[in-house]
Amino acid sequence: QSLQRWNQVGENLNKFLTEMGYEVDLQYADNEVQQQVSQIENMITKGAKVLIIAPVDGSALSAVLAEAHDAGIKVIAHDRFITETENVDCVGTFDNNKVGALQGQYIADALDLEHADGPFNLEIVAGSLDDDNASYFLGGAMEILQPYIDSGKLVVRSGQTTREQCATDAWQTDVAQARMDNILTAYYTAEKLDAVLCSNDSTALGAESALKSAGYGSGDLPFPVITGQDCDTANVKAIIAGEQSMSVFKDTRALAKQVASMAQAFMNGEEPEYNDTTTYNNGAKVVPAYALEPIVVTKDNYQEKLVDSGYYTEAELK
Ligand code: GAL
Repeated sequence: QSLQRWNQVGENLNKFLTEMGYEVDLQYADNEVQQQVSQIENMITKGAKVLIIAPVDGSALSAVLAEAHDAGIKVIAHDRFITETENVDCVGTFDNNKVGALQGQYIADALDLEHADGPFNLEIVAGSLDDDNASYFLGGAMEILQPYIDSGKLVVRSGQTTREQCATDAWQTDVAQARMDNILTAYYTAEKLDAVLCSNDSTALGAESALKSAGYGSGDLPFPVITGQDCDTANVKAIIAGEQSMSVFKDTRALAKQVASMAQAFMNGEEPEYNDTTTYNNGAKVVPAYALEPIVVTKDNYQEKLVDSGYYTEAELK
């Protein structure tokens, strides 16, 4: 619950499943793997028919999900992937490679990398190593940006470009801020930063704090192009204020509706609807999926995508 997104996920799932007439046991694991494992064990003991899990660490659930499988319980991964086990029946998510591609393309367009001479300075703030999604976000963005790094048009002065080097433990804002502070101090005293690829909003918030402390956004030092994901209210406000360039919108209502329909199918002894049964190899099997489309949100369309759609009220973005 330390990150806004997961509170919305829980609230929406609870709402839709309750409306469908199901008894819902909603638990939050506070980013603690062992807490999540014991919560799942408890749910199995209490006779759950379907488990919907947004894993803290997708690779840490193999043992407990073997118990779930033996108890005939269907397991749905919600948003994040459950890996290294066959005992996950399907996943409801967004096209996470597309999320990264939208972020990478946004930077390429904003700097006009196709035509401008450059070079431009780029830094990368990636997600948590225990979150399989983070590899899809970074991978999707680097498919677009790596050629410009190879050609020298994009320069990563810190030299940090791998998932491990750029990781942000548990996606924590203060971890992202501390790393960006260090990078700015070490590599950008004589040079300015032109773009920061942030894989989500909680990390973008940390990068923005570090950039402000270094003087960006005041005087003649404009903010670099900064990407994000989740359209958290703090970051939409930053987009409106011109501090963040874009966020990728993944409507938690839409995914909750899709996952609730997956649970309903299993409860009726049927197979859910999938739109991707080939991409998501979790290390033990290809997990059938329903992946929703992510949407770029900027200053130009946040009103339509977030307010007119009822996701936020005007007041929430003040
Ligand atoms: C990811 C999720 C993202 C991002 C991150 C932080 O798994 O898909 O939306 O917010 O977690 O929790």
